[in-house]
Amino acid sequence: MNKRVTTADFRRMKQEGKPIAMLTAYDYSMASLVDAAGIDTILVGDSLGNVVLGYDSTVPVTVDDMVHHSRAVSRGVKRAMVVCDLPFLSYHVSREESVRNAGRLMQEGLAHAVKLEGGSEVADKVKAITDAGIPVMGHLGLTPQSVHQLGGYKVQGKDGDAARKLLEDAKSLELAGAFAIVLECIPQQLAKTISESLSIPTIGIGAGVHCDGQVLVINDLLGMFSDFTPKFVKQYANLKEQIIGACSSYVEEVKAKSFPGPEHVFNMKEEELKKLY
Ligand code: KIV
Repeated sequence: MNKRVTTADFRRMKQEGKPIAMLTAYDYSMASLVDAAGIDTILVGDSLGNVVLGYDSTVPVTVDDMVHHSRAVSRGVKRAMVVCDLPFLSYHVSREESVRNAGRLMQEGLAHAVKLEGGSEVADKVKAITDAGIPVMGHLGLTPQSVHQLGGYKVQGKDGDAARKLLEDAKSLELAGAFAIVLECIPQQLAKTISESLSIPTIGIGAGVHCDGQVLVINDLLGMFSDFTPKFVKQYANLKEQIIGACSSYVEEVKAKSFPGPEHVFNMKEEELKKLY
């Protein structure tokens, strides 16, 4: 069995200039496939609110939802580090509540680390959670849990002041004990500056190639989610077409009674059949 990827590997990979590959997964089957592909870390993202649960944002996602999916993912993963998102409002009210919710993701969700959104305003929560022995990944730039405050899914840090604030936020997360930071939807020049200013790795999504690693939502990469496709997504497959094609062949064959075929059925011995009749 391969050795489990840890936060120490993250540090080493940054020092050695080796990029970190991260993808989301939300269930056992997908997590085991992504793990088998050699991914370094799997994020049980609260993006499951959009791509699995069908909400129009991540705001309705609960700690119970995250525990449920993280537990399924963790059972499918042998090598990758499993990072689970703390959802909306699960780390804002108090340090105590933040530690308790992070603890649930670790104990019940079997995650190896948690991720939360925000900068200096959540630094005290990052410190409290890491003081409890739970590794924390930060998330800056476009922070989807604040979509209603940000006024939509927009590129962040485009002007000098906003960029400087994000750089300061990144430093305060590092100081508070975060082991890595996701940078979402920010100009690549800013992502480069932040990455070069920190000793912990940055993981980019829509932040360019100068981050220390990259992350994508698995449903986007596989072409399974078409409600919206951000500019930063590269689609490596078009499973949507294949899944619809496979399902419509199934429907046709069921209607035509050509499925199941002789190779899919079970037979009784003649003498047992006689007893039945
Ligand atoms: O929830 C998620 O999938 C994320 C990634 C987009 C980084 O936070």
